[in-house]
Amino acid sequence: MIDKLAFSEALAEIKHTLRSLAVKGYRGFDCSAPSLAKLDRWGQAPAEAPETLDDIRTDLGDCQRCRLAAGRTNIVFGTGNSRAKLVFVGEGPGFEEDQQGEPFVGPAGQLLTKIIEAIQLDREQVYICNIVKCRPPGNRNPLLDEIETCSPFLERQLAAIRPDFVCALGTIAAQTLLKTTAPISRLRGRFYDYMGIKVLPTYHPAYLLRNPEKKRDVWEDMKMLMKEFNNEK
Ligand code: URA
Repeated sequence: MIDKLAFSEALAEIKHTLRSLAVKGYRGFDCSAPSLAKLDRWGQAPAEAPETLDDIRTDLGDCQRCRLAAGRTNIVFGTGNSRAKLVFVGEGPGFEEDQQGEPFVGPAGQLLTKIIEAIQLDREQVYICNIVKCRPPGNRNPLLDEIETCSPFLERQLAAIRPDFVCALGTIAAQTLLKTTAPISRLRGRFYDYMGIKVLPTYHPAYLLRNPEKKRDVWEDMKMLMKEFNNEK
């Protein structure tokens, strides 16, 4: 890590020395105005490289920031295309996800895979992650303080990927991203803006497994998503 202050102080010192050598008549040093201007440009902070998903995963480390750490087997960070145009955000890992360290690999995940395929994409083309990265005990809903502790990592993931679309799966994902307490039944079926990303809330696949009659609504949402997605191409 470059200490920017020390770096610019060193540059100022070099410039000062070059100027005094030139004034004293020393030769062999390039003290021309273009050279000194070049030194000035070195001193300007380079554009910060945007952080990558790997940087964020490294920062998450062996996270102990909330009580969910105590019961987890694996952190479930996220998987898929780091340059995805579409990100699916679920609630939190279940049993299978906790065991495998991958999101949506259990029964709800199999349904999500079918939903992704129904919109003519595959899991490798999209990115899949969750609001919280560790399994809540007994698959309970994540608590507000757990969500608040984990959300900055999701925000950073989305800032790193910069997708055009997020599909928020279920109440917790939709309410967290949209900062609302409105029920998913009211939120679904239209796009919202989140950090310049179009967010489409829909029912969670696990809810669909229990309420298959709601698949029709999800299909309507997915058709809307597919239409917008193909318009962005
Ligand atoms: N449910 C979720 O919300 N996320 C998963 O990863 C699996 C099931």
